[in-house]
Amino acid sequence: MCGIVGYIGNKTACPILIAGLTNLEYRGYDSAGISTIEKNVLSVLKDKGRVNNLKNLSEFNSLKGSVGIAHTRWATHGKPSSVNSHPHLDNSKTFSVVHNGIIENYNELKNFLTNKGFTFYSETDTEVIPNLISYYYQEFPNKNKDVSVFLSAVQKACKELIGSYAIEVISKDFPDYIIVAKKNSPLVIGKGVKENYIASDIPAILEYTKNFYFLEENEFAVISRNNVEFFDSSLNKISKDLKEISWDSNATDKNGFEDYMLKEIYEQPDSIRNTINSRLNENGEYDFSDLKLSKQYLKNINKIYILACGTAMHAGLAVKNTIEKLCNIITQVEVASEFRYRNPLVDSNTLCIFVSQSGETADTLAALNLSKEAGAKTIAITNVVGSSITRLADYSVFTHAGPEIAVASTKAYTCQVTLLNMLAIHLAETLGNCDRELINTLKLNVLSLPNKVQECLNSDDFIKDFASRIYTEKDVFFLGRGIDYTTALEASLKLKEISYIHSEAYPAGELKHGPIALIENGTTVVSIITDKTLTPKSISNTQEVITRGAKTLIITNEHLSNSNFDTIINIPEVHSFVSPILAIIPLQLLAYRISKNKNLDVDKPRNLAKSVTVE
Ligand code: F6R
Repeated sequence: MCGIVGYIGNKTACPILIAGLTNLEYRGYDSAGISTIEKNVLSVLKDKGRVNNLKNLSEFNSLKGSVGIAHTRWATHGKPSSVNSHPHLDNSKTFSVVHNGIIENYNELKNFLTNKGFTFYSETDTEVIPNLISYYYQEFPNKNKDVSVFLSAVQKACKELIGSYAIEVISKDFPDYIIVAKKNSPLVIGKGVKENYIASDIPAILEYTKNFYFLEENEFAVISRNNVEFFDSSLNKISKDLKEISWDSNATDKNGFEDYMLKEIYEQPDSIRNTINSRLNENGEYDFSDLKLSKQYLKNINKIYILACGTAMHAGLAVKNTIEKLCNIITQVEVASEFRYRNPLVDSNTLCIFVSQSGETADTLAALNLSKEAGAKTIAITNVVGSSITRLADYSVFTHAGPEIAVASTKAYTCQVTLLNMLAIHLAETLGNCDRELINTLKLNVLSLPNKVQECLNSDDFIKDFASRIYTEKDVFFLGRGIDYTTALEASLKLKEISYIHSEAYPAGELKHGPIALIENGTTVVSIITDKTLTPKSISNTQEVITRGAKTLIITNEHLSNSNFDTIINIPEVHSFVSPILAIIPLQLLAYRISKNKNLDVDKPRNLAKSVTVE
């Protein structure tokens, strides 16, 4: 999705903006642009293609000044092109704007402005914003360089916008200010010493500051070198606390790995360890006391919803059975984009859990709003402190995966499954009616995860070999029963995303109800077998595809001796409730190795964005 960076200080803005945009490349984009001001001269440089292309444009060196805004665009309205790239100027070239989000009523606004004599040059929704600001700016008889006039024009323009936006605005008439506003799209302000930074995403500016302000919905900020002033939607002044982010700025380096995805796969022992430790007290007991979910409350709840998108939704699926078994509470896991539009049965006795790496996913945010309006208690499980979902939910529980840069989620997923298991155990202990022995086993299993994940990483060489044999294939099937089916879903998504190979995940027992018709000589089938109670059934299902010519990769914690299997990857034994955390590791590596064999851009797969802030 689009990315935003801004700088105001005493250094030359351009290199900082380029560095910020480069840090945001992982979000996915197709065009980039920068606008700076020096001595009341507004310069704009933009083009389709990579951030680095900007440096080759002849006007690059004319981008002077210590105030600037910048953008990476992920095309929605209008194809990737220079004219459609941001920043966009108003007709009088007084205001320059970058925008993340979608203006849903841009056609009406365009008609309105066209009737007032404005001309539009791009196909974008964004171009209405600088022109609306300009329109309202003209209304002020006295434009005598008071920044409140600039702010009022921005606010009046924002009032007209329907949809989502995070915007940065600079003006040649106010060369010492940047104004920002947001609605349903993330924006953070990083505080420095005599300088301030702006970004849509913390990692973009983490190398400059760890102190952040988070803008809330419909708020504005007027940012100068020494000051940041905040205003509500009616332009009343408001105050905000600065929040310190603990992420290490080195966390956004590749650290010698070829790609961020590989680095993040290999970071999992540490990220899982950090996530576990964040919820252990000094006696080694689980500490979720901040959630304030009493036994009485839990006894009365009618169901738990886990709402999320993509990989985060798969993390929810991986713990559904665990929660139901341990807590005896019906647990439904749903894609947030469906939940939000289907009048779900949610009330004050429903507990809704929202899982999101970024904490900014538009559909998950909408599902959260809906659940709150229906009176449910809400818990956010996210990786990003200060993100929109954490600010809205009643309680937040953080994964400690560190910044995840590769578009395909890996370490965030395993941390989410770990944390959700810990939460399930906590809920069961609060309810007090759980099987003590099972709880103790699970707790020991959770503690063993970092070392066991490390062991799973040893499968890389076998996986490399298997990947080199199947990377030209068109279809791959992933099978699993029970909890292994949830791993199959996640493994299949990983493969699709970064290798562009079509893949299907099926509950193994469902295969003969249709999809087995697709199995032919040489088809690759990956079978995940980690639940002892289902092993014989899973083996039979795998045998059925072998009989029809499939070659099979088996991921298992059982000692299987069947010589019909093409490759067996053994993973350490754990209770099946937490086995997805181990079983997915070789399958993340499989997707990665296949993508490398195909020479694809692993970290930035086509058409995908890291943080999906639009519907
Ligand atoms: C897949 C992937 C996506 C995200 C989904 C939700 O590898 O990363 O499916 O899981 O877009 O994103 P978050 O977790 O940020 O809400």
